[in-house]
Amino acid sequence: MAVGVWVCKICGEAYIGKGKPSRCPFCGAYDKYIVDSKKYDDTGDWDVELNDVDKANVEKALGVEISNNLFYKCASKKVKEIDGQKLFKILAKVEGEHASVWKKILKLDEIKWEPPETCVDDYKADLEDSHAREDRAIKFYGEAAKAAKTPRVKEIFEAFVEVETDHLKLSEVRLK
Ligand SMILES: [Fe+2]
Ligand SMILES: [Fe+2]
Repeated sequence: MAVGVWVCKICGEAYIGKGKPSRCPFCGAYDKYIVDSKKYDDTGDWDVELNDVDKANVEKALGVEISNNLFYKCASKKVKEIDGQKLFKILAKVEGEHASVWKKILKLDEIKWEPPETCVDDYKADLEDSHAREDRAIKFYGEAAKAAKTPRVKEIFEAFVEVETDHLKLSEVRLK
């Protein structure tokens, strides 16, 4: 199989590889959203008209992702377990990518990455915090997807419910 360029329809990022990955390496979207770059035109993906409900939900989602990015960044530096450092570092990156998606939908020039989030040096306690955060995100995103009038916003919320469910499972197996 030849090396190809694959594009994620959710975050818009491209990936080079032999065959598409099972998850977008940037935002974690499932492979059903990953397409051959030659067959995809993303014109219009980031030029979305938002009604008041969708705008409020997207703004809230941006806040959720920023908070989770900062929490995971904090936790990745504090825990002594190598698995925890790696897990929280990649979760921080993915949540940061989610924040960037919402930023593009809102057509913001920049994101204010604050206020700083607190975390602890205990791996189990941070996993429990992670679990609660992902659980809240899944519930909110599910409701926001149902309420969404804009197809593009609905699509992103639905895709992120799946991604955050992956994150929830990662803490669940470690808390067993
Ligand atoms: Fe996220
Ligand atoms: Fe997450």
